[in-house]
Amino acid sequence: SAEGSALRSPRPIQVVAHRGASQDAPEHTLAAYRKAIEDGADALECDVRLTADGHLVCVHDRRVNRTSNGRGAVSALELAELAGLDFGSWKDPYEEPDHDPERDGPGSATDAPDATGYGEGGDPAERSAVLTLERLLELVTDAGRPVELAIETKHPTRWAGQVEERLLETLDRFGLREPADPARSRIRVMSFSARSLRRVRAAAPGIPTVFLMSYVTPPHRDGKLPPGVGIAAPGIRILRANPGYVAKLRRSGHQVHVWTVDEPRDVELCVHLGVDAIITNRPKQVLEQLGRV
Ligand code: G3P
Ligand code: CA
Repeated sequence: SAEGSALRSPRPIQVVAHRGASQDAPEHTLAAYRKAIEDGADALECDVRLTADGHLVCVHDRRVNRTSNGRGAVSALELAELAGLDFGSWKDPYEEPDHDPERDGPGSATDAPDATGYGEGGDPAERSAVLTLERLLELVTDAGRPVELAIETKHPTRWAGQVEERLLETLDRFGLREPADPARSRIRVMSFSARSLRRVRAAAPGIPTVFLMSYVTPPHRDGKLPPGVGIAAPGIRILRANPGYVAKLRRSGHQVHVWTVDEPRDVELCVHLGVDAIITNRPKQVLEQLGRV
């Protein structure tokens, strides 16, 4: 633990694992999310896209080229095709942990129990399979403690509302579409697109919406967001250049969630500015810095 050197935060800051514990495991895989939960993250972030046959999968880029051994747009591939791809080895080829008899004693390397039961690297299949939103929701609802999920709609205009529609149907099946108390919703929907958030609010007013910003455009300069949006999510660069923006957002009544905060100095800045959530690829490191583990 970082006891003694831990930052003192005036109020609890939610630590959100960006694409899972994506520093340690391939982004958007079950292994990355499992690791984030084990690390103690309060919440998980994921991007969702529609496949050609209408399934929501957790993939950041429009194409699968960077994060898998396949090629092409997610929207042009069916789930079964995506299921045949390897979404893990681009990051770091999975290797069976070496068995060291002196360290591990007799028996096989996989005898040593750990939280996953699969050894340190996690289940190889969980490090390489495409992840559906459904499977991620199962993980979240079975986590054994409250874990929130921030779902980002990636929204090619050609889908005209289908991403949001499918998302809400899926949440419905998990009983997460209409939280009894919106302030305690386990789900929030994020987007760079105000239109996407508007669609979500219109169909599911109980789900908090989060407006993502990579720069501040004139209508939002004084801290106001699109109508009905409760949470602002500026990129860390905005706050480095203009730390006073957090106070403006707060004065307008908004929560502030910041992405993607991996550097200790940026964590310090966020604590100093009193943000509500830090979205990071390194949840364990941030939790340590905050003195939470
Ligand atoms: O959590 C917000 C952040 O994920 C937005 O940017 O490109 O990583 O989806 P991006
Ligand atoms: Ca995202």
